[in-house]
Amino acid sequence: MTTASPRPARAALPPGSRLPALLQTALFLAAPGRASRRARRRYGPAFAVRFLGFPPEVMVTTAELAEKIYALDAGGARAGEVRRQFLEPLVGRHSLLSLDGDPWWRHRKLLSPPLHGKAIARYGEDIAKIAAAEIARWPQGTPFALRDGLQNITLDVILRLVFGIQDTARLARLRRLIPELIAVGGSPALLLTPPRISAWTQRSPLAKRLTFLPTTRFLRLKEAVDQLLYAEISHHRAHPVEGATDVLSRLLEAQDEDGTPLSDEELRDELITLLEAGHETTATALAWAFERLLRTPEVLAALRKELKQGTSERYLEAVTKEALRSRPVVYNAPRLLDAPLKLGRHEVPAGWRAGPLISLIHRDPEVYPDPEAFRPERFLGDDAARAQKGWMPFGGGRRYCVGAQLALLEMRVITREILTRLDLTAPEAAAELPRLRHVTLVPAHGTRVVTHRRPPS
Ligand code: HEM
Repeated sequence: MTTASPRPARAALPPGSRLPALLQTALFLAAPGRASRRARRRYGPAFAVRFLGFPPEVMVTTAELAEKIYALDAGGARAGEVRRQFLEPLVGRHSLLSLDGDPWWRHRKLLSPPLHGKAIARYGEDIAKIAAAEIARWPQGTPFALRDGLQNITLDVILRLVFGIQDTARLARLRRLIPELIAVGGSPALLLTPPRISAWTQRSPLAKRLTFLPTTRFLRLKEAVDQLLYAEISHHRAHPVEGATDVLSRLLEAQDEDGTPLSDEELRDELITLLEAGHETTATALAWAFERLLRTPEVLAALRKELKQGTSERYLEAVTKEALRSRPVVYNAPRLLDAPLKLGRHEVPAGWRAGPLISLIHRDPEVYPDPEAFRPERFLGDDAARAQKGWMPFGGGRRYCVGAQLALLEMRVITREILTRLDLTAPEAAAELPRLRHVTLVPAHGTRVVTHRRPPS
């Protein structure tokens, strides 16, 4: 008698809540931190979640597991596909955020050099000037949301240093239109409009007149912004400036291996991409840095001391890193799996999403003892290498944030400018809670502060 050889046991799916997707979505939207911490406690470092309208997802909460997901950027998963659904209406079809495969790689090779450390090294002085002009406009003695003021600075950095806009009228129009475009483009009313209705509103002459429709408002704003961007691109083409350092000028000169430059449409899409990915994120990161600094007086005092001495910026750099660790702006960097992914004894099927949950990876007590404490010293001295290893506010793998060096430079320069010009206090002692805004976590009240000008030292 022959006995059938035992079949290899099928790896189990990652564990997770059995609540209906609607309820899981509602719980996550209401309190993302609490919901993910509870899942981590109950199911371990890799758990499954189901959100309404999305494929099932495994979220991982350690750096080792995250690296397994990032490794798939070389083949086996797509990041662009995950982002396309939300971003394509704004960033178009030729965006580093939403492309995958060879077209993505071509764009990545063209966009990386102008955003690299050496290329942006000279931006420091210009960022300081932009910050100083904006800080001078902030109210004194009355509470306001610091994040709004920070966003004016980071928008100007993109418009003037990345797009290289000199024309003051065009600059003024873009300063007004872009925040509106981004607000309407990311509004729940637009994101929840069914694709068929959205397609109809784009075609129908009648819908184009119904300005109360979110899709119509979005299209009108987008057209107005596009007109200005195409005008800027053709101005740059017609009047190239020798030695210009803005990113657009460098992109106009860039060519791929076949000698093909980016077309106007590709340039437009990439400019909007850099704006969408780089302006609110950096302002939010700075808002969190101040939210933490104002509630950790000993860290603020140590930072002020270093800035006063003016001989080193080591502690400033560590403060920036600790702010991005303790309050990462982008909480998750998911990929769509093209092939099954083994995670320990679990197997995640193709077609699922797999996301490093950055907000919990940064709270792993094995890597960051006392993770709730705001302690820049983690990134200095003997512990620095360990802290750095688990630090991933800019994601990882081949899709690592292309603007990370610019963001870190902005954070250092703007923090320094604010602290040397202003005394700041938080009108409320309680910490601000994180609130979900698209794919980011923002301070619930935009970091409320009261400022007073410091006498020149
Ligand atoms: C503190 C500010 C910022 C944070 C926290 C941040 C975070 C991130 C994260 C988490 C990703 C996804 C990485 C992944 O999937 O593994 C990303 C991608 C990206 N970021 Fe940033 N970012 C910031 C600033 C910027 C700036 C200033 C720019 C450009 C001016 C920028 C441009 C981009 C682009 C184009 C991508 C897509 C890269 C690709 O898929 O190849 N970001 N960023």
